[in-house]
Amino acid sequence: ERREKESLLLVNDFARQFYEDQLYNTDEGKSVGLSYFKKRGFRKDVMERFGLGYAPMKRDALFKAATAAGYKAEQLDQLGLIRNKRDFFFDRVMFTIHNLQGKPIAFAGRILKKDVKAPKYVNSPETEVYHKSDVLYGIFQARQSIRKLDNVYVVEGYTDVISLHQNGITNVVATSGTSLTPGQARLVKRQTENVTLLYDGDKAGIKAALRGVDVLLIEGLNVRVVILPDGEDPDSYLQKVGTTVFEKYLTETRRDFLFFKSDLLLEEAGDDVAARSAAIRSSIATLALVEDPLKRQGYVQQFSNKLGLEESLLINLVNTAVAERR
Ligand code: UTP
Ligand code: MN
Ligand code: MN
Ligand code: MN
Ligand code: MN
Repeated sequence: ERREKESLLLVNDFARQFYEDQLYNTDEGKSVGLSYFKKRGFRKDVMERFGLGYAPMKRDALFKAATAAGYKAEQLDQLGLIRNKRDFFFDRVMFTIHNLQGKPIAFAGRILKKDVKAPKYVNSPETEVYHKSDVLYGIFQARQSIRKLDNVYVVEGYTDVISLHQNGITNVVATSGTSLTPGQARLVKRQTENVTLLYDGDKAGIKAALRGVDVLLIEGLNVRVVILPDGEDPDSYLQKVGTTVFEKYLTETRRDFLFFKSDLLLEEAGDDVAARSAAIRSSIATLALVEDPLKRQGYVQQFSNKLGLEESLLINLVNTAVAERR
């Protein structure tokens, strides 16, 4: 089992080399793939660090190269790299997904044409070496910096990670567009207790942040949230305003999970008393997920000051919510 996984990882590493070789050393790769990445402003050293590549248009390019090099079709199939002797990834720029040790465990391919109806990203399926719900994109490249800074930014997209990394914000990982899982929260917790969610500034991003907060709190993490201006993602906003303004935005708009959630819900509620109490109850349910009673009490104090609510009332509500938890 262990040896089989090791051998699958070697096959994946061959695929990574293949996609990189296509990107840097073929006419098609250079004119289509490399020029795409350059247009996005990605630097060569960063592209290499993240194992970016190119999957050519030919439908069996990887299959032929890998089998010629002695790799078994069965393993390529198990890794989701081929199906019926045809390449799973073709005509796309490629992103390598690494495990904590830096081994390639999966891939994602981004479409190049704007018009086509095909999905923007195609991702490797679940395999023996890739359990999506336990993986964070960029964790290998971010690991040291996360530990040193004792904080991690969680973003949605592959290109957000790369773009921030290139601009000196290296403690960043991506959920890859899915909602944050308990497994991903535990992976984070092995590196730091402090998480800042930095999701896209749209409805979906805000919803994902609300859900992510609860998952992270349940795993005992400290959670803060930054919401980007409407329509921006970390990559687009950083490219737009530059590193200095971007970093200032992060520190100035970053809020504890509780005030992120309560401000948001209360703003939606407006002056309606029933809607306001529902918003407060929902915020209290999230606060009740904080295991540490000292931290909880700290939040209760802040919350009562901010809302002008009796602290004793809040304590009662929180205690009830704690008792009803889960
Ligand atoms: P986005 O649509 O925000 O893409 O999806 P992006 O990361 O900003 O990519 P660019 O800048 O357009 O190139 C966020 C993430 O959701 C996942 C990917 O992980 C993507 O990075 N996703 C998105 C998919 O897996 N499939 C899709 O079709 C779209
Ligand atoms: Mn397994
Ligand atoms: Mn989005
Ligand atoms: Mn995005
Ligand atoms: Mn983007």
